Amino acid sequence: MQTLTLQTPDDWHLHLRDGDMLQETVPATARCFRRAIAMPNLAPPVRNAEEALAYRDRILAARPEGSYFEPLLTLYLTDHTTPEDIAAASAAGIPAVKLYPAGATTNSAFGVTDLRGRYPVLEALQKHDMLLLIHGEVTDAHIDIFDREKVFIDEKLKPVTEQFPDLKVVFEHITTREAVEFVESTTARVAATITPQHLMLNRNDMLVGGIRPHNYCLPVLKRNIHQQALRQVVASGSPKFFLGTDSAPHVKAMKETACGCAGCYSAWAAIELYAQVFDELEALDKLEGFASHYGPDFYGLPRNTGTITLARQEWTVPESITLADGQPIVPFIAGQPVQWKLVEPL
Ligand code: DOR
Ligand code: ZN
Repeated sequence: MQTLTLQTPDDWHLHLRDGDMLQETVPATARCFRRAIAMPNLAPPVRNAEEALAYRDRILAARPEGSYFEPLLTLYLTDHTTPEDIAAASAAGIPAVKLYPAGATTNSAFGVTDLRGRYPVLEALQKHDMLLLIHGEVTDAHIDIFDREKVFIDEKLKPVTEQFPDLKVVFEHITTREAVEFVESTTARVAATITPQHLMLNRNDMLVGGIRPHNYCLPVLKRNIHQQALRQVVASGSPKFFLGTDSAPHVKAMKETACGCAGCYSAWAAIELYAQVFDELEALDKLEGFASHYGPDFYGLPRNTGTITLARQEWTVPESITLADGQPIVPFIAGQPVQWKLVEPL
């Protein structure tokens, strides 16, 4: 049987949620990822260092026995975030701030309405060498949902990168050829994360033969030429693109409804699905860089010690997972076979 041993990977974009849900999400990620960037879009969001450190404690309390999983906290940028908030976050060891344009996605109502008005805060991020993580979609009602990432690049992202040349920016969960081209062509201070769903699927997988709510996430799946661009760039081994699952659980009732939530709960199979994609691309030798090296290198953090091992062995993702309160969640790729299996977890 073919096996694949990787230096311990990290997840650079993850939704752990809060409360009882942590009992599900923390072990699911800690089985193979040593660190994860914990997104701050709780309700209410994580807005300052104090809230971030309290959230960190709640995550740590949900670690399985013997786990060294380490959450990396982020602040949620609002119209009211101040440079002083950034200085305090830097002093508390918080590596990054997340920009959600208001209304772009789940729990983004507190997000930024006027990015230019936030430039003093971006100045502070640059000064303290903290990263800006961006949900890159415009929210204007007249812009088609499939064009929102492309328009964001020209209208918002380029001006930010030009105005703040020393600011490290992660363009999160990119979905388009235009995003790939922008990240490749711009400075070394800009990188991107890519999810399993955007590598594996295109919008046909959400819409052909019926609406498939468990493949609905934001930014929404695009047409196949964009999926191909993402697949090509990870196969190229470019260090500007690294692993960020965007694993984002919602209970079944919130996904299978008339106005369903965005998010794919991929933590149960994420590293395995990335392995499957890199295998299909005949680029398994590029997986370790993507999963374990380029992320910490970009963040300026040490690479992990230790390893995990996967084997080429088919298994099936469960149809449903039950939370402690009895509510079901349908995981990403539920009931479908996966070609790689984690045989030596952390
Ligand atoms: O699909 C998504 N789900 N995209 C996001 O940006 C947020 C996430 C969530 O929190 O559910
Ligand atoms: Zn996300």
